[in-house]
Amino acid sequence: MSPPASRPRSLLLLLVLLLPSTRSLLPAPSLSFGINYGQIANNLPSPSRVAALLQSLNISKVKLYDADPDVLAAFSDRDVEFIVGIGNENVANMMDTSKAQAWIQQNIQPYLPRTRITCITVGNEIFSGNDTTLMTNLLPAMQSVRQALVALGLDGQVNVTTAHSFAILANSYPPSAGSFRENLAGYIQPLLNFHAQINSPFLINAYPFFAYKADPSGVSLQYALFEPNPGVTDPNTNLSYDNMLYAQIDSVYSAVKAMGHTDIDIRISETGWPSKGDQDEAGATLENAATYNGNLLKRIAMKQGTPMRPSVPIDVYVFALFNEDMKEGPASERNYGLFYPDETPVYNIGLRGSPTSYSSSLKTTVVSGLVGFLPSLVAALIIQ
Ligand SMILES: *[C@@H]1O[C@H](CO)[C@@H](O)[C@H](O)[C@H]1NC(C)=O
Ligand SMILES: *[C@@H]1O[C@H](CO)[C@@H](O)[C@H](O)[C@H]1NC(C)=O
Ligand SMILES: *[C@@H]1O[C@H](CO)[C@@H](O)[C@H](O)[C@H]1NC(C)=O
Ligand SMILES: *[C@@H]1O[C@H](CO)[C@@H](O)[C@H](O)[C@H]1NC(C)=O
Repeated sequence: MSPPASRPRSLLLLLVLLLPSTRSLLPAPSLSFGINYGQIANNLPSPSRVAALLQSLNISKVKLYDADPDVLAAFSDRDVEFIVGIGNENVANMMDTSKAQAWIQQNIQPYLPRTRITCITVGNEIFSGNDTTLMTNLLPAMQSVRQALVALGLDGQVNVTTAHSFAILANSYPPSAGSFRENLAGYIQPLLNFHAQINSPFLINAYPFFAYKADPSGVSLQYALFEPNPGVTDPNTNLSYDNMLYAQIDSVYSAVKAMGHTDIDIRISETGWPSKGDQDEAGATLENAATYNGNLLKRIAMKQGTPMRPSVPIDVYVFALFNEDMKEGPASERNYGLFYPDETPVYNIGLRGSPTSYSSSLKTTVVSGLVGFLPSLVAALIIQ
């Protein structure tokens, strides 16, 4: 990809000057983060264009909310790992193993192995909703999908899980005192036992943005955005936290441990920051979104773990690939994308060697953008 001709020479010089010192400070580039490919929109590019876009970004893990056949077909022979979803409306059906098997035969099997589907989420954020029948149905549906995978000989290559809202926690501070809501314990305990039994990951959607928006004067924006800040020390463990996402992840480890499990992987199935919001949505700005996601990618490139699990690199799916114009709710809901539907970046976090715009936040975005992206940047400079 060659840089736009209009890019000023001085900027290239600046980049060249930044490169050597930056390189010595930073770990080897790697973009092993995932992205949520949400499609609640009427203006998104075709799946084959998206496949090309993701390849150009070197993104190799994608999470879908359904099992869109056009997407799964378009990613045939692409080196991309997929999490696909069974919608909440289909959870009750899945309790019947013959229906679960039929679903897999129709929606998963035709695309294997050329499309690398490695995980199925059964339902999304069911325990933070208000449908107790759905809550009761969830585990039997997951067990049934698992049985169907076993019957089809796919259990070794496709995991079964579900994704939770962070709101299933009653307490998340300090991280060592993390706990699930008491009224959910009856659902979560057997679910955790199942995860441990089949070795599948526990997925949680975690948004420091929500905590900041709920209490902008009480929550440090720097702490939420991974920016320099005094940090927080957990008085029970003396572990110190320099960002809220890690504290949130460790509070989930604690909640899971309180239910007797230290044998379950925890992954972040969604996190992100909106670039725009309604008047009353504090913090929803372009600059904050660029900072959050840019800093997050930097942490991922460093293969950092959380204070409680320093040797387990955080495993994160960013929300989301595109702004989704048909999402309901506050304006922020429609503005989580890293990209506009026309494939131009909403802001530059260095995912591409030829960013389309360097704006007033040049310093922070260029520096954070360099991380994890040196090879393409170097390539862009050489082309120039
Ligand atoms: C792409 O990602 C892979 C795996 O994470 C990494 O080894 C490689 O260096 C990356 N390439 C670029 C151009 O960033
Ligand atoms: C459940 O939640 C939905 C949306 O959050 C709401 O529209 C509905 O009225 C609620 N139902 C009950 C029984 O509370
Ligand atoms: C299934 O999840 C477990 C636990 O996180 C993980 O070790 C394993 O690699 C996953 N399997 C696949 C096929 O991704
Ligand atoms: C935390 O640090 C304090 C002060 O150094 C010390 O008294 C306490 O024993 C430590 N607690 C733990 C759990 O390490």
